[in-house]
Amino acid sequence: MLAGKKIFLVIAGGIAAYKSLELIRRLQDRGATVRCCLTANAREFVTPMAVSALSQGPVYMDQFSLKDESEMGHIELSRQSDLLVVAPATANILARMAAGMADELATTLLLATDKPVLVAPAMNVRMWLHAATQANVATLKARGIGFVGPEEGAMACNEFGPGRLAEVPDIVSAIETMLNPRRPLAGKRAIVTSGPTVEPIDPVRFIANRSSGKQGHAIARALADLGAAVTLVSGPTALDDPAGVSVVHVESARDMLAACRAALPADVAVCAAAVADWGVDTVATQKLKKEPGGAPPAIRLVPNPDILATLSAPGNARPRLVVGFAAETEKLVEHATAKRARKGCDWIVANDVSAAAGTFGGDSNQVTLISESGADPWPAASKEAVAARLADRIAEALS
Ligand code: PMT
Repeated sequence: MLAGKKIFLVIAGGIAAYKSLELIRRLQDRGATVRCCLTANAREFVTPMAVSALSQGPVYMDQFSLKDESEMGHIELSRQSDLLVVAPATANILARMAAGMADELATTLLLATDKPVLVAPAMNVRMWLHAATQANVATLKARGIGFVGPEEGAMACNEFGPGRLAEVPDIVSAIETMLNPRRPLAGKRAIVTSGPTVEPIDPVRFIANRSSGKQGHAIARALADLGAAVTLVSGPTALDDPAGVSVVHVESARDMLAACRAALPADVAVCAAAVADWGVDTVATQKLKKEPGGAPPAIRLVPNPDILATLSAPGNARPRLVVGFAAETEKLVEHATAKRARKGCDWIVANDVSAAAGTFGGDSNQVTLISESGADPWPAASKEAVAARLADRIAEALS
């Protein structure tokens, strides 16, 4: 997560500049504030108006603007940020950075800053491979500048090779890594289930539930922030795939179990999905017809596999730590404690899902962590904060 982080984005003049607009949105989604500076050349590719509208703030461009300077000095601007990101970084701006030039506002800020700098290069393949660019990259790396990309692929100029801007989720992930150097879960693998499952009745109808996936997705992000390699197995939700996480989209409980099995081995599994306890016995291959005056069709339900119990079962493939969730509407601790014993998981996170609590679909949660040492109620907090605390506990347990 990037909650509270201030990122100063320098957009240089390349065809990939349009992707910086998407980058601004994704950084904001993660809780960051983004301020932007456009080089003179960048203004040929994206408009200051679009950047300003998306970043919800002024766009800095002019080194000698009396207005900007009286509101906040340029040097102060670069220093008030937690990180400066240059995306896309052209061969030209890399050369100017390496030479220590301050020939326009963007390069002045990059020279004046005392904050970390991350660069996402994007340019023609020959420009990237040119000895001059490679020497500039080596110089900048030696000075501690971080790099993400470029990637190899087909380029706008019809050539193929390294030079494409890194994908936006990868840039976000690199930013998170630079800003969150604490990575106690580096080298660990995690499976997280999230969202509802949907159980088909016929090609157009299904049984589902009210889970939004917010809690499960936040846990996947929090584990990834601590360095884990996370597979998020998600039922249908309206959420974007979290950056830096490998996402498998599924529909039914059976699909979810198969995807979890395929993601093994893992060090930890967290089952936050609201899995349907029952599926439809025989799914109609054609849409069920409503006959005039006819009786409604009878649907026979059969039990679904229990994913949490399956992952918790003793055996070589069992993750070292298996964490379930318990969705309860009464006797929270009593029912959740019994569920933990019945399913065989190590911890269970109990939450109240009665309508009054607003947990399903809401942004906050009040949970009680139940382990062999008893019940530990946590204060109500945002789902991100619950996820971060759970990820910290998982990191402690696996260390
Ligand atoms: O998605 P949100 O809107 O953010 O809401 C979050 C949440 C309320 C869905 C989440 O915090 C939560 O409580 N998830 C578990 C929901 C649930 O199915 O609880 P349960 O008590 O019915 O199941 C207990 C555990 O068994 C859960 O870990 C569940 O994932 C698992 N299970 C259940 C049935 C099944 N067939 N397979 C399972 O793995």
